[in-house]
Amino acid sequence: MSSDQRFFDFLKERIGLDVTSVGPAIIERAVRQRSTASQAQTADEYWHTLQGSSDEQQALIEAVIVPETWFFRYPESFATLTKLAAKRLDDINHLRALRILSLPCSTGEEPYSIAMALLDGGFKPHQFKVDGMDVSPLSVEKARRALYGKNSFRGQDLSFRERYFSAEGDGYRLSERVLEQVRLQVGNLLDPTLLANEPPYDFVFCRNLLIYFDQPTQQQVFAVLKRLTHVDGVLFIGPAEGSLLGLLGMRSIGIAQSFAFSRQRAPEPVAAFAATPLPVRQPLPAKPFASSAPPAVRRPFAPVTPLPRAKKAASPDAATLLANIAALANEGKSAEARVACEQYLRSHEPVAQVFYWLGLLSDVAGSTLEAQGFYRKALYLDPQHGEALMHLAALLQSQGNAAGARRLQERAARTADSERKR
Ligand SMILES: C[S@@+](CC[C@H](N)C(=O)[O-])C[C@H]1O[C@@H](n2cnc3c(N)ncnc32)[C@H](O)[C@@H]1O
Repeated sequence: MSSDQRFFDFLKERIGLDVTSVGPAIIERAVRQRSTASQAQTADEYWHTLQGSSDEQQALIEAVIVPETWFFRYPESFATLTKLAAKRLDDINHLRALRILSLPCSTGEEPYSIAMALLDGGFKPHQFKVDGMDVSPLSVEKARRALYGKNSFRGQDLSFRERYFSAEGDGYRLSERVLEQVRLQVGNLLDPTLLANEPPYDFVFCRNLLIYFDQPTQQQVFAVLKRLTHVDGVLFIGPAEGSLLGLLGMRSIGIAQSFAFSRQRAPEPVAAFAATPLPVRQPLPAKPFASSAPPAVRRPFAPVTPLPRAKKAASPDAATLLANIAALANEGKSAEARVACEQYLRSHEPVAQVFYWLGLLSDVAGSTLEAQGFYRKALYLDPQHGEALMHLAALLQSQGNAAGARRLQERAARTADSERKR
């Protein structure tokens, strides 16, 4: 059933997924899984089943989109939202509630983080409403359940958990006062009539989805996003998606690590944030500055990153340094993060994760050759470092080396596969 174009075309048409952005291996794996589950003996048989069953179509979509997300992902963007929201309320003379959209919202961590950030910022419940939307009914259902495990809490500062969650079994249940601020629905960003009867939103979060579309699909989707974003509104995207918006005439609002864009003119940068240019290269799979390697969960179109190997043997001091690198990077302090990486390498055995960070910092700064070198070093130390594989693949792809990119994507898919079987 390998490289069966019919399945690639189906997923592209239904959810916009572009096979070259993720490599064929990830899609083939999902097709194999669903084919086995539906007891099809051949690709043709499975194709036939797929054509005749909307449930099976949804199941294949669910198998390929595994919703990787967590609370307060890219914390700076929530701090920025809070500041911009206060100004926006003044601009509209407090005459109505602010309207905020999180699309895709996955299992709810993003729209709920928006609500928590605004409540923490002193906004009253009647002053804002958040809509969350995702193409996956399973994810939306989980979001509605609002019971979260530890994978959803990955940042350094988890104090929000004390304020807004109560422990329940192995997990944490979100409080009613946050739930009440968020309305969740199933919806497809590719639908040109999406939310057609809704007034535009003051703030739209569309993060970590555009990178999986090809350019014509991105353009189609941008038309939808533009319609959904108020003319004076702000669009928040993923860290690797800035170059796409630049190409389509949107401008960064100039707040580091926020990945926020305005439709027309660039508003005044909010004081206390330094402006840094966004990379203008081909997009990369997102997930820049996690404070530690992510746990082994399935993720949308990206591989699972194993824990840095040498970390097993690393001293607590090394762990502290690693956490510090992540914190600095998260705060947008790229120069300090780089110094911390160099300090780590002077005092400890080299580990893949540090080279991966150096690669990412170089990448974001636009130094592609340097970034390549660092990603390769990470892979020398840990040939299965999923994120280094995917980022290097994206770099090679942007340089026209499609075959090299594909090899790396396949390696990343195999890594994800073996992680999943563990
Ligand atoms: C990586 S998650 C992003 C979640 C969140 N925005 C974040 O950045 O943490 C990607 C999500 O996109 C959703 N998705 C994929 N294709 C979509 C489409 N065409 N329309 C709406 N959602 C889609 C998937 O179901 C998945 O939950």
